[in-house]
Amino acid sequence: METTLQPELQGHFETAQARIAAATSAEELRAVDRDYLDKGGVVAGLLAAIPTLPPEQRRGAGQGANQLKTAVLGAIDVRKAELEADAIQAARSGKGFDPTLPGTPMRRGSLHPVTRVTRELEDIFSSMGYGILDGPEVEIDAFNFERLNIPSDHPARDMHDTFWCKVDGAERDSDMGLLLRTHTSCVQVRAMEKLKPPFRVVVPGRVFRQESVDASHEHTFHQMEGLVVGEGLTVGHLIGTMKTFLREVFQKEIEVRLRPGYFPFVEPGFELDARCPFCETVGAGCKVCKQTSWVELCPCGMVHPSVLKLSGIDPEKYTGFAFGLGLSRLVMLRYEIDDIRHLMGGDTRFLSQF
Ligand code: PHE
Repeated sequence: METTLQPELQGHFETAQARIAAATSAEELRAVDRDYLDKGGVVAGLLAAIPTLPPEQRRGAGQGANQLKTAVLGAIDVRKAELEADAIQAARSGKGFDPTLPGTPMRRGSLHPVTRVTRELEDIFSSMGYGILDGPEVEIDAFNFERLNIPSDHPARDMHDTFWCKVDGAERDSDMGLLLRTHTSCVQVRAMEKLKPPFRVVVPGRVFRQESVDASHEHTFHQMEGLVVGEGLTVGHLIGTMKTFLREVFQKEIEVRLRPGYFPFVEPGFELDARCPFCETVGAGCKVCKQTSWVELCPCGMVHPSVLKLSGIDPEKYTGFAFGLGLSRLVMLRYEIDDIRHLMGGDTRFLSQF
C-alpha cells in the first residue's frame, strides 16, 4: 500500500502489517484491529497525545494518526479477503473438510399409509399363490358394467355414482361409454380375457365415485379385488381364503360370518364380516365395531355363470369366487384414522406421521 505516513508512524504501520500478513484467521485479524484501532489502542494513544504537543504540530499529528488508522484498516481488509478466498479454494478442493463434523440432516420421506397396506396385502396374497394385476383407471362401460352382468338399464348402476368422461361429439357424457372405474371389479373381466383358468389374482387400485364427500365418503378411494377361477371351487374355498388372509393380517385366528349381499356379477353374493379383532384389546366400548363385535370386511361371492360365459369361460367346467376388499377402510382400521378425507388430502402434517 502506498503510504504517505510520517516517518515516525511508519514503524507502527510496519509492525501492524507484519502481524496482518502473518494472520491465518479472522480472529488474529480482529486482534490487530483491537490493538491498533480500538479504545486504548495505538491510534487512540496518538490522538490522546495531541493536546500535549506544541500547537503547530497538532494538526499534522492528527492527520498522521488518521492516516495510520486508514492504512491498518485497509491492510486488514485485504488480508481478510485473501483468507476468505483461500477458504473457498480449500473447500472446493476437499482440503480443510472435517469428516468428523455432523452432516446437514436430510429430510426423510415415507410411504403413504395406503401404499404400506397395499404392499402388505400384496405380500400376503403373493405368498398364497396370487398374481398381482393392474388395470386402467379410465375404463370402458363394457368392462366396468356390461360384462359384469350390469346392462345399461340395470338398477345396480344407480349405486355406482359414475364419473363419465366427456368425449367430443357425444350428446351425453355416458354415450361413448368412457368412465372413471367405479370399482376394481372391471379388472376381473380383463383378467378373464388374459388368463387361462385356473388362476388367482388380486388387483389393488384407485376407484372413483361421484359422492358427497364427508368423513366416511370420498370420491377417490382404494379397493383390492380378488378373483379365483378354477375347477370345483366352492363357497368353502372363499371362506377358507378369507380366514387365511385374516390370520396373516392379524396374526391370530379370526372368526368370519356371511350375510347375503347382492351384486349382479356374483351368485350367491355375500357380505363377509370378521369378528372384531380390536375388541379383545379395547374391551367394551370398542369404536371399531360399535360394540357389535363384528366388522364388515368385504363383499364377495361366487362368480356369476353369465360373467364367466361373457368372457368365454365354460361355467359348466369352471367356477370361481371374487371379493372386493375396501383398502381405504382397512387402512383406516389399521392406523385408527377416523376421517377418510385424510387419505387423499395430501396434507403433509398427516402424511409425515407415517
Ligand atoms: N365391486 C363391488 C363394489 O365395489 C364389490 C364386490 C367385489 C362384490 C367382488 C362382490 C365381489 O361394490
